[in-house]
Amino acid sequence: MTLDAVLSRIDTDLPEALDRLLELLRIPSISTDPAYKADCARAADWLVEDLKSLGFEAASRPTPGHPMVVAHGGSGDKHLLFYGHYDVQPVDPLTLWDRDPFDPQVQDTAKGKVIRGRGSSDDKGQLMTFLEACRAWKAVHGTLPCKLTIFLEGEEESGSPSLIPFMQANAAELKADIALICDTGLFDDSTPAITTMLRGLLGEEMTIHAASKDLHSGSYGGAAANPIKILAKILGNLSDAQGHITIPHFYDGVAELPDTIRAQWQSLSFDHAKFLGDVGLSIPIGEQDRTPLEMLWSRPTAEINGIWGGYTGDGFKTVLPAQAHAKVSFRLVGDQDADAIRDNFRAWVEAQLPADCRVEWKSHGGGGASVMAIDDPAFEAARLALGAEWGKPAAYIGCGGSIPIAGYFKTYLDMDAMLIGFGRDDDQIHSPNEKYDLECFHKGTRSWARILAKLA
Ligand code: BES
Ligand code: ZN
Repeated sequence: MTLDAVLSRIDTDLPEALDRLLELLRIPSISTDPAYKADCARAADWLVEDLKSLGFEAASRPTPGHPMVVAHGGSGDKHLLFYGHYDVQPVDPLTLWDRDPFDPQVQDTAKGKVIRGRGSSDDKGQLMTFLEACRAWKAVHGTLPCKLTIFLEGEEESGSPSLIPFMQANAAELKADIALICDTGLFDDSTPAITTMLRGLLGEEMTIHAASKDLHSGSYGGAAANPIKILAKILGNLSDAQGHITIPHFYDGVAELPDTIRAQWQSLSFDHAKFLGDVGLSIPIGEQDRTPLEMLWSRPTAEINGIWGGYTGDGFKTVLPAQAHAKVSFRLVGDQDADAIRDNFRAWVEAQLPADCRVEWKSHGGGGASVMAIDDPAFEAARLALGAEWGKPAAYIGCGGSIPIAGYFKTYLDMDAMLIGFGRDDDQIHSPNEKYDLECFHKGTRSWARILAKLA
C-alpha cells in the first residue's frame, strides 16, 4: 500500500529530517525584537528554498513587518492550505538555559530523545512535520498529495500585525477548501487531539508616573506617592478572593459552556493534580467555582506578565522612583470584546489613581477567542487518521493559548480551520530550555501523511 511506503520513507528519512529542522532552528527569528529582523527574513528564505526543493512555487512576500512565505504546489480537486509560523519568542532569561537556545541539539532524557532549542516545539518543529510529510509523499509518489497552499507567518509571536491586511489583499490566492494549522498540542503524552477552541488575547503596557523625578525615600518617603506601591495595589485588585476578575463588564460576552462540551471534557478525565504537580504546584488558582479544565480552556484571565521600576540592581538603594511599569494580558473567551475590555481596564485603573499621578498606556494589540466549526467531514477523517497513528482516538479539546489566524480564516476567507498539533505540556514553549520530543516530531510527520492520505 502506498501509505505504508510513505510512512516507511518518513521512518528512514528521520535523521535527514532532523538535520533540516536543526538548520532552521539555528536561525534566531525572534519577531518581537527589531534586532532580529534580518534573521526573520533569513528563516523565511530558508523555508522558501526548502519548499522549492519539494516542487512548490514559493516566495517570501514582504509586509510592513516580517515576510510571509506563500507556496503553491500539487494539483487535483481538493485544495488544502497549511499554516504555521517561523518566528519564535525571545529567549531571556538566557542564564536559565542549559545551552545556547539557537545551537539546538538532540538530547537523551529520562522520557526519551528531545530536540532542544528555541522554536523546536513552537512552531518550527511543528511546521516541519507537515513539510516532511509532503517530502516523503513526493519521494514515493513523485507528486504532492493534492493541491496545496503553504502559508507561513513570521509575526505570530508578536500579535500578527500584518496578517489581516495580507489575508485581505491576497484572499483569492489563499482561499482553499480548509486550513490545517499545526501550532497546538496533544491532549496528553499519548493522546492525539484536534483543538476546537482557542482563547483570545489582549496586551496592555502601563507606566504610572508619580513625582517629576526620582526622590530620596528618606527625604520624601511617607509624603510623596510611590508609583510602585500604587501599581502593586491596583494590580492586586485585578481579582477577588474567589478568583473573579473585578474590572466592570469584564464578563460581558462570556457564556456558560454548552452541556455537550462540558460532558465531552469530563470524559477526558484530565488529571489536574498531575498538570499542576509537574510544575511544582498543587492549587488551581482561578475562579474557585470552576474546574481546572474550564479555567484553562473556557474562562478568561487577567495576568501580570512583567512588572518593573525603582532599583533592582545589586545591593540596595533607598529610592522613591518617579515611574513604575507593568505588562498585563487578558485571555479572552466567548464573545468578549478586546476593545471594550481595553477601555474598561484603562478606566478602572485611572479611577484608582491618586489625583497627582497619571498613567501612560501602550497597546500590544488584542483579538477575540475563536471556536472552530467541526461539521466538515475532514474533521472526522483526520480524527480517524490520528487514531490510526497513535493507537487511540483523537480528542476534541480546548486550548488556553491564542493563535490569531485561527479565527481569521473564517472571517476573512470563509474557510474552516482544523488545528492539529503534537506539542506536549512540558515542552516549555516561550520558556528556557524549550524542547520537542523526537517522538512527537516523528509521529507528527507520520500523522500528517495519514491525514493527507484521507483528505486528498
Ligand atoms: N503555539 C502557541 C499557542 C499555544 C499555546 C498552543 C499553548 C498550545 C498551547 C502560539 O504560538 C502562541 O504562543 N501564541 C501567543 C499569541 C500571542 C503572542 C498573540 C500566545 O498564546 O501567547
Ligand atoms: Zn506557536
